[in-house]
Amino acid sequence: MKIAVITDLHYTKTKIKDCPNRAGELAKELLASAIDKINSSIKPDLVLGCGDFINDENDAELLKELAEIFEKLNCPKIIIPGNHDPSPEIFYKSFERPAEYLDINGYRIIPFPDDMQTAGYNARKSCEDIERIKKLSKEMPTILVQHVPLYAPRTIKCEYNYDNAEEIISACENVVLSISGHEHAGFLPSFRSKFPVVIAPALCEGRFPFAIIELDDNRKIKSYHLEFLGE
Ligand SMILES: [Fe+2]
Repeated sequence: MKIAVITDLHYTKTKIKDCPNRAGELAKELLASAIDKINSSIKPDLVLGCGDFINDENDAELLKELAEIFEKLNCPKIIIPGNHDPSPEIFYKSFERPAEYLDINGYRIIPFPDDMQTAGYNARKSCEDIERIKKLSKEMPTILVQHVPLYAPRTIKCEYNYDNAEEIISACENVVLSISGHEHAGFLPSFRSKFPVVIAPALCEGRFPFAIIELDDNRKIKSYHLEFLGE
């Protein structure tokens, strides 16, 4: 199972003055290059878009431009909003809202487009979503997909997590991987939680990376690497 993760594009029409590291004005070109590379050489089983597609939630019309580029993908995709995007109701006027889960190559992928945002750019999963994890993850090896990183508290030196991470993690029966964005520097896969945790870096910063994760037949991470679109 091969998964490509594109996250944190922060698309804007003009340069972001208060965060000069964020090349949000290049987001369209970067996304188009990433998708070309994915279609022509990477050929994953699934592409995840993990949120913060635009920099300012009031620029919702820009989402349509990115959605058109995503349409060029030759493989299944799951797209979820981040804290910079508008509410799911507005966001999914441009993108297709993912189903409750997607079964692919013997894995169950559960996306979380409706997580609550909390103070300090953290997040919280609802009781309904925690019940959903409990029920759905029992049946198949499961991959959780959300914008904010989810991991056992204090196991990764990341500023962001779920306020109710412990409660969520204790509901995970057969979770084999958690995938997120949000922390722009990204982190190498961590194996210190109940399941491996991948935090993919932002496409709009540094060397413009996106992440590729491969899982082996035993549901373990076989490889993790970054593809760079810049120098
Ligand atoms: Fe972001």
